[in-house]
Amino acid sequence: MAYYRRAGDVPPKRHTQHRRPDGTLYHEELMGEEGFSSDSSLLYHREIPSAIVDATPWELPDQGLHENRPLVPRHLKLHTLGAEDWKRVDPVTGRRLVLGNADVRISYVVAGESSPLYRNAVGDEVVYVESGTATVETVFGALDARQGDYVVLPRATTHRWVPTGSEPLRAYAIEASSHVAPPKRYLSRYGQLLEHAPYCERDLHGPTEPLLVEQVDVEVLVKHRGGPDGITGTRYVVPTHPFDVVGWDGCLYPYTFNVADFEPITGRVHQPPPVHQVFEGSGFVICNFVPRKVDYHPLAVPVPYYHANVDSDEVMFYCGGDYEARKGSGIGQGSISLHPGGHSHGPQPGAVERALGAESFDELAVMVDTFRPLGLGEGGLASEDPSYAWSWAGRGPSR
Ligand SMILES: [Fe+2]
Repeated sequence: MAYYRRAGDVPPKRHTQHRRPDGTLYHEELMGEEGFSSDSSLLYHREIPSAIVDATPWELPDQGLHENRPLVPRHLKLHTLGAEDWKRVDPVTGRRLVLGNADVRISYVVAGESSPLYRNAVGDEVVYVESGTATVETVFGALDARQGDYVVLPRATTHRWVPTGSEPLRAYAIEASSHVAPPKRYLSRYGQLLEHAPYCERDLHGPTEPLLVEQVDVEVLVKHRGGPDGITGTRYVVPTHPFDVVGWDGCLYPYTFNVADFEPITGRVHQPPPVHQVFEGSGFVICNFVPRKVDYHPLAVPVPYYHANVDSDEVMFYCGGDYEARKGSGIGQGSISLHPGGHSHGPQPGAVERALGAESFDELAVMVDTFRPLGLGEGGLASEDPSYAWSWAGRGPSR
């Protein structure tokens, strides 16, 4: 993010004395990326931000990954993962790992309980809200999250999720091992979103005022690198609440972006998936397919051609509308399709003919394309519809 924001009480000059009304100094903290060489923010704490009084292991939910072998396209029905006791599940510790590799992990949760304080020191998180509402309280201030929001949380942002309303919060969490940002081609050389970008700074919503919470001996869960799966956890107890920031400014902070604010790029003939891209991380991209007018050449074929995206595993999360190209496959709201590199995929039988002459598609899907192969987590294995691989042929193995 190269987009300056300021909230609360900050001194006129950085790295100078900033004092409380009683004359004692606030504690300045720089939170910065890439070793003081990229985006950063300065936060002013009432108490010392590095203080801890206890540290014990936090055992994460199952982070194991099973290779996609034999190599087949997969259909995962995430709505089968919603537990009956969702009111007692929280949006962080209740996440079930669906797919992942060394660059990105995708998990899903249906939740109604507030999460513990948490920070992910492995990479940025992009949490897509399929339905429900929440407040995301962060060290920078609070964000309101609603259906269709991407909640973008920079690496090591201390925060907690507080579901609001009577409906369950359904959240699709994309956890990177890197930073996540708008595609470079949409940014000026100084970082402004350009005119041809499908969204702009006005569509990004950051915290507007700091939260000031007073509490002693507070638990914070930290996800970090290590362990046999490359990811592990530690539980800290900190002497005072981390939300003690009186002001901050800079270009690094959490924000929300709603998928309804993505302006689709369309053409006379089929546009390739990169026009749907919304974010990129190291080793993966995030795209969204939103309701839109479709190809207007008189002989256009509006659904995609069969495609072998030879360098990618492609993960589609179907989260609204009616996905034309997948009709007849069993895929519906809450489904994931995984189309791995090495397998050519495309519309289900009859979908091309049905789509001819269509003027618009009412579909909503979030896509993650990875450049390294994805393995299946326990949530992926538990939610699979094993018949999907054979859905183009109409019959499966005769063995
Ligand atoms: Fe595809």
